[in-house]
Amino acid sequence: MINNKKLLACVFLLPVLFLNSVTARDLKSGSEYLTPATREMQNDEFANPGMTAVEEGRIEFHRAGVNEKTCATCHGENGSKFDLKKIASYPVYNKEYEKPFTLQEQINFCGEEYLDNVPYVYDCVDLVEIESYVRYLARGEKVNVTITESLKPFYEKGKKIYNTRYGQMNMACNVCHDQFDGQRLRGQVLSQGHSNGFPLYRLGSGKMTSLHGRIKECFRSFRAEPFFLGSEELISLELYLHARGNGLAIETPAVRY
Ligand code: HEC
Ligand code: HEC
Repeated sequence: MINNKKLLACVFLLPVLFLNSVTARDLKSGSEYLTPATREMQNDEFANPGMTAVEEGRIEFHRAGVNEKTCATCHGENGSKFDLKKIASYPVYNKEYEKPFTLQEQINFCGEEYLDNVPYVYDCVDLVEIESYVRYLARGEKVNVTITESLKPFYEKGKKIYNTRYGQMNMACNVCHDQFDGQRLRGQVLSQGHSNGFPLYRLGSGKMTSLHGRIKECFRSFRAEPFFLGSEELISLELYLHARGNGLAIETPAVRY
């Protein structure tokens, strides 16, 4: 029996000669790899099944917290007071916590600090729904993460993880998403692995998938032990991925298989 490692080595060694990197080419959103029908579904808000999660998030946004305030008290009805460019610039550095804040962390912080709510567990369904709603509001806005001096160590950490080989199959993110995008793997077309559509709806599972959830799935797919959801590793990777996709339009909620 041919073991997987050998098989992958055969498949992956040859094209390495023609190594190219995403930075040297056009950035392509994951939606460009979809079938026209799925892309149409993503773009049509009435057909997009991810809109259910967005709607749930919208309800949460207007729900009274422990102190009777709601998110809308400060951010306006339907988030009308949001600066959408600011949303597209996350993760940002939080001085008080001395670390990057993802949108989920900012939402959780606001809930705890300003509504006296008990914080959500990172990546739980409710939090992903609120994140979906907030990012949906910024749909079409271009991802624009600035790597400040304070963010740099986290960015470098994320980049290193992205380019490190892990697990039984000795694979790294960049192998699939920078070197082999556009090629087929187990019936799926590999994309450049961007984060601009997250949280997104999966036709296969019938559920929303967060960015950390997707990354975990990728780790599992090459039989590596994933980092836990909300860990500093995944947050650094999230920072790297968003910055790597700077310029792509936010497409939340994207639709994927
Ligand atoms: C008392 C006012 C207040 C309430 C209530 C509040 N926030 Fe905020 N929120 C803020 C402030 C102030 C910032 C800016 C933080 C910063 O720049 O460091 C912010 C930032 C944000 C951001 C980042 C984008 C931006 O405009 O800076 C998001 C997303 C957000 N809040 C979501 C929420 C959600 C969701 C809730 C309800 C769970 C909520 N907020 C409740 C005051 C509030
Ligand atoms: C063995 C190949 C493989 C490796 C290695 C891999 N992935 Fe993936 N990844 C996939 C496949 C297959 C998909 C689904 C199709 C697609 O969008 O590429 C996917 C999808 C994604 C997506 C969603 C893109 C979208 O637009 O929906 C992201 C983000 C992603 N991967 C990040 C990563 C990160 C980060 C790593 C490293 C921890 C990684 N991947 C490692 C195969 C891989």
